[in-house]
Amino acid sequence: MNSFRTLLYSLIVISLTLTNVKCYIPDPRYGQSSVLVGSNLYFFGGTRRGKYYDQVVYLNLSSSFNTLSPPWSQITTPIPTPLYFPFPCLSTDGSTIYLVGGMSQSLSNSSIRMLPSAYTYAFDFNNLQWTTPNITNFNNTYLGRTDISGVADSNGKYYFFGGYSTNLTAADPRIYYNDTNIFDTKAMRWSTLTTLSNTPSSRTNYGAVLKNNFIYYIGGYRGYSGRNDIDMNTIPSFDTVNLKWQSMSTSGDSVGSRYGHSAILTQDGLILIYGGVERISNIQAQPVIATLDVSVTPYVWKAIATNNAPPQSLVYHSATLYGIYMIIAFVSWQLILFPSFRTYSMKIFSLFFQLIFNTSSRF
Ligand SMILES: *[C@@H]1O[C@H](CO)[C@@H](O)[C@H](O)[C@H]1NC(C)=O
Ligand SMILES: *[C@@H]1O[C@H](CO)[C@@H](O)[C@H](O)[C@H]1NC(C)=O
Ligand SMILES: *[C@@H]1O[C@H](CO)[C@@H](O)[C@H](O)[C@H]1NC(C)=O
Ligand SMILES: *[C@@H]1O[C@H](CO)[C@@H](O)[C@H](O)[C@H]1NC(C)=O
Ligand SMILES: *[C@@H]1O[C@H](CO)[C@@H](O)[C@H](O)[C@H]1NC(C)=O
Ligand SMILES: *[C@@H]1O[C@H](CO)[C@@H](O)[C@H](O)[C@H]1NC(C)=O
Repeated sequence: MNSFRTLLYSLIVISLTLTNVKCYIPDPRYGQSSVLVGSNLYFFGGTRRGKYYDQVVYLNLSSSFNTLSPPWSQITTPIPTPLYFPFPCLSTDGSTIYLVGGMSQSLSNSSIRMLPSAYTYAFDFNNLQWTTPNITNFNNTYLGRTDISGVADSNGKYYFFGGYSTNLTAADPRIYYNDTNIFDTKAMRWSTLTTLSNTPSSRTNYGAVLKNNFIYYIGGYRGYSGRNDIDMNTIPSFDTVNLKWQSMSTSGDSVGSRYGHSAILTQDGLILIYGGVERISNIQAQPVIATLDVSVTPYVWKAIATNNAPPQSLVYHSATLYGIYMIIAFVSWQLILFPSFRTYSMKIFSLFFQLIFNTSSRF
């Protein structure tokens, strides 16, 4: 047995001290979004079998738990509308979540997609109520923007790049963007940047990670036909202080193009990517796990060997760093033979459902 590998990638039961095992188990889903508030990891919306969720569920991470039976809870006040791929922005005082973006659907017929009724829904953790706040200067092209990942700077400004919107009256309804929409949660104001030089091409389902005031955009795909996956060997980054784009090439291990993966910053300052699928071939992106060191020039990719990688491409999951652990929840896998996504059912899925990956300094 390769003990180094075992150490590197171990499916860990954090602790077997079962305290209070609750019976609530949320349905599998994908296309939800997550945010860590204190030690609670919240999940908003998502979809399964064409139906969008209005649920908010959370995991309380403050005590150890058995990863095969996580202590799930559900917030009893749902999102005012079901949402696929909303993005939660946390206010700097930690009291409020602003959900932006995402698509909705008709409550009476889930095959009728609808724009959300409000451009932002706010959830107050103190009274557990939802409101539709007034935020100035919202760009109407941003209503229902989907597959975006926002990153916040230390002043509570969220930066969102690209994504797509849905034109409900068009035959080919997706409109892809390469704009940057900024939501200032302190000033309660939006702004749109469209004309900066070196702006990368439109993209969606990428990973976005903030490090030292720069946001690094990893992978995803372009919204147009042809070979539209994004090269992993050129990494664009956005300088949130000077509002400038730049890009850098990479060296090191070969890392396949992918979308639907996740990207987090480890405590060691490495960008860690997980999962995803190749756009063109529709196969599992390899390696499944890799790190990118952006502190050197050029940046360096390193493939992380695993001896228990999942057999299929895991996509559209939530990945959250908690201490040294990356917590993966609610994933979908893309079946190679069928052009559709299928969520794992809880039973089959229990092994991977809350994959916890120890990210500590062994890379
Ligand atoms: C999380 O768990 C801790 C310790 O068990 C408890 O004190 C706290 O109230 C819990 N938080 C929520 C939101 O359930
Ligand atoms: C739901 O909407 C779809 C698309 O508009 C339509 O084809 C279908 O007949 C509708 N189903 C019901 C039960 O109304
Ligand atoms: C937002 O503005 C509208 C119209 O000015 C007002 O009726 C509503 O109460 C405001 N909502 C909030 C949450 O302030
Ligand atoms: C949506 O599609 C319709 C029909 O193709 C078109 O007339 C309209 O301009 C489109 N809207 C946008 C915002 O692209
Ligand atoms: C709104 O966003 C669109 C699409 O990115 C852009 O073309 C337009 O200039 C933006 N409007 C404003 C006022 O920034
Ligand atoms: C991306 O942005 C630049 C600068 O605003 C623009 O010239 C270009 O056409 C855009 N490309 C795509 C693919 O949207």
